[in-house]
Amino acid sequence: MNFAFLAKPNTPQAPSLLRDLPTVTDQSQVSQYEGYFYYNLENPQPFLSFAAPLDNKEASFTLDLTSGAIAYRRQHGGGRKQHIAKACGLKHNWNPNILDATAGLGRDAAELRSLGCSLRMIERSPFVASLLDDAIQRAQQSNVELFHSDFSLYQGQSVQLIEHLSQQQQPDIIYLDPMFPPKSKSAAVKKEMRLVKLLVGDDPDADELLPVALNHAKYRVVVKRPSYAPFLNNQKPSMSIESKGNRFDVYVLSSPSF
Ligand SMILES: C[S@@+](CC[C@H](N)C(=O)[O-])C[C@H]1O[C@@H](n2cnc3c(N)ncnc32)[C@H](O)[C@@H]1O
Repeated sequence: MNFAFLAKPNTPQAPSLLRDLPTVTDQSQVSQYEGYFYYNLENPQPFLSFAAPLDNKEASFTLDLTSGAIAYRRQHGGGRKQHIAKACGLKHNWNPNILDATAGLGRDAAELRSLGCSLRMIERSPFVASLLDDAIQRAQQSNVELFHSDFSLYQGQSVQLIEHLSQQQQPDIIYLDPMFPPKSKSAAVKKEMRLVKLLVGDDPDADELLPVALNHAKYRVVVKRPSYAPFLNNQKPSMSIESKGNRFDVYVLSSPSF
């Protein structure tokens, strides 16, 4: 991957997962790379950011779990009436422990945490995992208590990590949201997701996740897909819940006893 870490003066060191990247100290050198990471020092706490050219302009993003779109969704998202909550079967005050095996930017995980679930996340891209880890560390120091516990990230390949879970570590629900090619290059494909795609590609092996998840979840596997996408691994779910532009395919394995 052709990325660099831009070390501005007084910048903290590159996060551990980015240590193998070439480090440049001069902004003009970053044009040799497809994109670059840097610490945004404008805030009291440094924020890890990623920047890359998109549509001939430089675009960048920083992940923040405690404000902006993620916080808005948490405060105004409709609680347990929303589709993601129904897909995960969140009723009777049930607070399952969920393994999000395709963590990405952690937005769905943050939403599920705000609905009372415990979250473990796995992200295989060291680039995306660095951005998410940085956001989690800041959230843990913030006054949003939700993220102070039961919200953890592992960097690695889910297919292998899930196979190695012990019985005590078995998740109630495994949640999957692998990349799926967008229908068009329209503005509807958000800038952040386009930048993430630059970092991770297309997830061509996504189908492999479903059989492993079905073997290791206790109660259900929930798969988020664009409405136009076929079922993951071409496997028909127990039910589907349509949302705006998306669909949650739910594979019910058993029901918790309340
Ligand atoms: C569409 S994004 C997930 C977005 C996420 N649901 C959110 O709310 O931000 C898919 C992510 O899953 C990761 N991924 C795909 N397959 C994986 C696997 N087998 N193991 C771990 N991570 C995986 C990709 O690297 C990518 O970052």
